Amino acid sequence: MLRKGIVVLMVLALTVTFAVTAFAKGDAAKGKKVFETNCAMCHGNEGKGDGAAGAALPPPKPRNFTDKALMSTKTDDDLFKVVTKGSPNTGMAPYEKMLSEADRWDAIAYIRTLAK
Ligand code: HEC
Repeated sequence: MLRKGIVVLMVLALTVTFAVTAFAKGDAAKGKKVFETNCAMCHGNEGKGDGAAGAALPPPKPRNFTDKALMSTKTDDDLFKVVTKGSPNTGMAPYEKMLSEADRWDAIAYIRTLAK
């Protein structure tokens, strides 16, 4: 009985670890492509918030993802929520239907590499 319980626990622990590492962070390399195709026109090729389409928007301007002080105040979940649901009354559209959940996390993983 005890042995069986330990095996079950180990399998559970492995499953949870795997699920967390697989899900917590997207793939930044894949996210770079998602970003260049869908986001760079506003957020800029380097994520500085200086894309051509973004410059044409009324305020607020697209976020500068290289601003470390600002970006460090945001959790990944905060960013995911904005990418998924958009930011009301701004140029930031909801990507819930346009990008898969994996693509959204990948884009966020990439954004995280921009603030150094
Ligand atoms: C049409 C221009 C435009 C496009 C395209 C765009 N964004 Fe944005 N984005 C904005 C604007 C404007 C804001 C600022 C909204 C605000 O201040 O509330 C913003 C804000 C954000 C934020 C919030 C950051 C924060 O500080 O909370 C994230 C994350 C984000 N964008 C990610 C993305 C991603 C990922 C894509 C591509 C899938 C994308 N954006 C495409 C205009 C754009």
